[in-house]
Amino acid sequence: MFKNFLRFHTFAQIQIKMRIDILTIFPEMFEGPFSHSIIKRAKEKNVVEIFTHNIRDYSTSKHKSVDDYPFGGDAGMVMMIEPIALCIEKLKSERKYDEVIYMSPDGELLDQKLSNKCSLFNNIIILCGHYKGIDERISEHFITKEISIGDYVLSGGELAAAVFCDSIIRLIPGVLNDETSALSDSFQDNLLSPPVYTRPADFRGWKVPEILLSGNEKLIKEWQMEKAIERTKQRRQGLFNSH
Ligand code: ADE
Repeated sequence: MFKNFLRFHTFAQIQIKMRIDILTIFPEMFEGPFSHSIIKRAKEKNVVEIFTHNIRDYSTSKHKSVDDYPFGGDAGMVMMIEPIALCIEKLKSERKYDEVIYMSPDGELLDQKLSNKCSLFNNIIILCGHYKGIDERISEHFITKEISIGDYVLSGGELAAAVFCDSIIRLIPGVLNDETSALSDSFQDNLLSPPVYTRPADFRGWKVPEILLSGNEKLIKEWQMEKAIERTKQRRQGLFNSH
């Protein structure tokens, strides 16, 4: 099913150009993840544009505050509505967005299916939270989707946003050299990938499976499928059962 999805993606959206606006209080955290490897190449190819916006720049308070004590007296701080609202409203006045996403452990769990879907978007806003979270009115009035990258709590949404961006950008046509390499990723058919090997064929007597050296494409494909199924059954029974 996912393979078909990706074929659709490839043929229907050849000219895709994605714009990602990230709202954060730590824009520097994105410098590393976005300046190497696949994301760097995607930016160079002009397939994706990523802008970070420092939420603090939108604070109207004297000390440029972005957080305040929670009503009700709980421990911890809450991210204030105003700077985030001003930033989102400015962006929305400039263009239409497909989604305004909040990275949060309470959100929909990110999986390959969700990444495939999100890779079709043209413009998205991603909000990274900190402290105890964001003022609930931001969710009510601006957020259209919450995404979690796993059932654990990070110190902030930045690392989660970087993970999410990586998972969708690599799926945009033209980003990977060989389009089929996204098709054979783990999870694209709810299957883990088969093991891979490279030279030397024999390292200290540890040999590469004979079949991979045979040159018989059909047998190799069958072997890879068999190994993918075996691995998924052994390691991710849940994924396997969803077939
Ligand atoms: N922010 C904090 N923890 C997170 C998680 N698990 N996923 C997304 N955003 C988060």
